[in-house]
Amino acid sequence: MGVENSALQTEGGKEEYYKVPIDLYRDSEIVEIDLYLYYQGQYILCKTKGVKWSLEDDARMKNFGAVTFFVKFKSPAEHSQFLDEKLKNLLERPNVSVERKASVLFDVSEPILSKVYSSPKAAETMKNAQGYVKNCIKFMNEKGSLGEMVKLANRNLNEHTHALHVSAYSIALAKRMGAQSYEDIFALGMGALLHDIGKSDIDAKILKKPGELDDNEWMVVRRHPEFGYNILEQRPEVPKVSRRIVMEHHERVNGRGYPKGIKNIHHFSKVVGIADVFNALTCETEYSKPMSPYDALKFMVTHLSLEFDKNLLAGFIEMLSE
Ligand SMILES: [Fe+2]
Ligand SMILES: [Fe+2]
Repeated sequence: MGVENSALQTEGGKEEYYKVPIDLYRDSEIVEIDLYLYYQGQYILCKTKGVKWSLEDDARMKNFGAVTFFVKFKSPAEHSQFLDEKLKNLLERPNVSVERKASVLFDVSEPILSKVYSSPKAAETMKNAQGYVKNCIKFMNEKGSLGEMVKLANRNLNEHTHALHVSAYSIALAKRMGAQSYEDIFALGMGALLHDIGKSDIDAKILKKPGELDDNEWMVVRRHPEFGYNILEQRPEVPKVSRRIVMEHHERVNGRGYPKGIKNIHHFSKVVGIADVFNALTCETEYSKPMSPYDALKFMVTHLSLEFDKNLLAGFIEMLSE
């Protein structure tokens, strides 16, 4: 494992260091675990377990230019569990700002979801995806949460951060349109999070190809909803509705979508279709500049309104205008 995969092996040692977000602690909070920084090829103990975090620590981290801490864990599962509990605890605290909650939710989930998207068939994958969706549902109950997620849209663009946003926007939109059952919202969140998982079965040369795809390549890309559906068919812990969303997220109400060009699509697939396009337009890619949320919505209304459910699109615009 390399730094990118968040775990590092010490030289000749058995212990492993895992990445932990830098903004996990604030003034006067007790640090419950030894925190290390990585400097010139070595891990340096920066804060000892049991000591309070201070404003001086914030200044020190800034001066040092630290972007992440490292913490020793026995296994990736122990690392995920620590982050999950830390995040849950933070999301429940009323005195923590919605901005900080969004930032920590993003920082904690990003490396976990990176694994979900790079190895969707691994055993722990769906457990991690479920963990994110549960935390995300909790966070989206907060006033101002959607705005904070939209602000983070440009932080780090790739397949799994796109998925993280699409899941958050979809949860918010469905709730606004009246969805109440936790089970339904959870299935929607999972479908939205995993909507592009089928791209993991497509050659990176096609997905990352600069310039236009030829007809054959485009045909392969258009099959990613089916590939995703097939991957999830092997995973009984993923609700049926989530699989249907994965299959239908590019279907459109006017029948001009793919892979089947059907009009009879699930309500939640329509929700995810809107969230997906909005996030794609507001993210910077290697080949295009991001649109502002206002311009993206204007573009969707002007050019794509026939593709989307009218009420849902209106609800989405209202929700983002608040
Ligand atoms: Fe897609
Ligand atoms: Fe997508």
